[in-house]
Formats: sequence, structure tokens, C-alpha cells
Amino acid sequence: MTFFPNRFKNRVALISGAADGLGKAIAHRLGTEGASLALFDWNEEKLQKTCEELLSKNISAKAYTVDVSVEEQVIEGINQVEKDFHKMDVLVHSAGIVGPTSTKITSYSTEEFDRIYAINLRGTFLMTKYTLQKMEQKQYGRVLLIASMAGKEGNPGMIGYSAMKAGVIGIVKALGKEYATAGIAVNGLAPAVIRTAMNADTAPDQLAFMTAKIPMGRLGEPEEVAAMSSFIVSEENSFSTGFLYDISGGRATY
Ligand SMILES: NC(=O)c1ccc[n+]([C@@H]2O[C@H](COP(=O)([O-])OP(=O)(O)OC[C@H]3O[C@@H](n4cnc5c(N)ncnc54)[C@H](O)[C@@H]3O)[C@@H](O)[C@H]2O)c1
Repeated sequence: MTFFPNRFKNRVALISGAADGLGKAIAHRLGTEGASLALFDWNEEKLQKTCEELLSKNISAKAYTVDVSVEEQVIEGINQVEKDFHKMDVLVHSAGIVGPTSTKITSYSTEEFDRIYAINLRGTFLMTKYTLQKMEQKQYGRVLLIASMAGKEGNPGMIGYSAMKAGVIGIVKALGKEYATAGIAVNGLAPAVIRTAMNADTAPDQLAFMTAKIPMGRLGEPEEVAAMSSFIVSEENSFSTGFLYDISGGRATY
């Protein structure tokens, strides 16, 4: 892979869900390309480990234990990032859960639906709301919200996940327009299945269903998602907002 060492020189990137999976891969990529990193995750132990890995690569990084579904924690975390780094140029919001799989709506518990709402949709709202308050002051920002193919097409057996990811896409489209002339771009990314821990517990029949829909016939790799994310949140990506990028091995046709 080709890296661009000065792409994020003097830029501060806040990455949620940074302890693992896509958030972690994106943190490595942006850090290697010069960004200073503020890392959010609710898994303190894993987050510390990731942060230490980044520091050992001479990347500037600081870890903040934040549950993105808890408003007070999000506010406190973002205020602390501002104190520590004085600005936020980039937000990559990757924190999320998959919730029940292979579960028809009639068996999908309301508690599970509320839980995935709180984390995947309300969490996206909170992280974006409070980061944009800071970005507005500097009239510069690049926001990337990780959505999913499930939000575009709907995955059977995953009603909560599909509904919340469709909600994330709605946020991208609305905010792209809200901030179009403010120097702040808000985009989304819709991956098909990527090889991360998120899929480790996904029922094999559900995983096979999702992989079979990918013309390239394989899972995506976190580094591939990180490479595309890096371009999306770069300064040079300057005439694109409110858009949902695709990384699906040919699955998406629109
Ligand atoms: N892996 C895939 O196939 C795939 C496909 C499409 C979309 N996505 C989306 O990409 C994003 C990242 O997924 P991943 O595959 O890296 O998953 P992952 O489970 O590997 O990593 C998610 C990270 O988010 C953190 N997290 C979860 N809930 C949190 C909360 N409430 N507060 C703070 N941190 C929290 C976890 O601790 C974990 O470190 C998610 O939004 C997911 O829906 C993933």
C-alpha cells in the first residue's frame, strides 16, 4: 500500500471505536500519515494496548475511555480532546455493535433494538453533534461516519443493525447539506463484510449469505477500508460531501 506521510501533518483526528477493527486500522493509517490521534473506545484495556502500539510507532496518540451512547461521557471526552490538542480537524466515527443476527423481527427483542439504537444511531448523533460544535469554530472539518451496506439494502435477520445504519446514512445526507458552505465535509462509508472481530460471532449462515453477495468473492480487509477512509477525510477531498462511499467488492450497484 502507498502511504502519504504528510497528508495529515498538523491535523488532529478523533477516532471512535479505535481499540479494534476498522477504527484501529484507520488510526494506524492516519497516524502513519502524520495525524495526531485522539482515540475513543469503551474497552479501556484494548484501547490502551492500541494506543501503546501507536506510540511505539512514534505516532502522537492519546486514549479516552468513552461510551459513545452516554451523552455526558461524549461531552467530557470531546472537551478533554480540545484541551489536549486545541482543535479537531477530523472525526472518524467507527464505534458500533452488530446486535442480534439471524433473528426475525418477531423474535428480535425490544431491549436489543433499544440497545443498538443507543449505540449505533444515538451514539453517531452525539459524537457528530459535539465534534461539529468544535469544528464550526475553526471552519474546517472532515467527518466520516461508518455506515454499512445493511443500511442501503437491509440485511434480513438484522433488523436493528439495518435500521440504525440507514439512520446513519440519513445523518450523512442531512449534515452534508447543513455544512456544505462551512468548510466542513460530512461523508459516510458503506462497507460490505470486512474481516474484523465484529464478524467473529456472526452466525455462519448469515456470514455466508453476506459473502455470497460480493462479486469479488471474499471479505474485505481493514487496511483496505483504512486506505479509502484516509482519502475521504483528507483536505484534498474537497468537493464531496453528504455522500456515501462504497467499499463492497462490487456488491453495491448504486
Ligand atoms: N466489519 C464489518 O464487516 C463491517 C461492515 C460494515 C460496517 N461496519 C461498521 O464498522 C464499524 C466498526 O466495526 P468493526 O468491524 O471495526 O467492529 P469491531 O467490533 O472490530 O470494533 C468496534 C469497536 O467499537 C467499540 N465500541 C462498540 N460500542 C461502543 C460504545 N458504545 N462506545 C465506545 N466504543 C464502542 C468496540 O469496543 C470496538 O473496539 C461499526 O460501526 C460497524 O457497524 C463493519
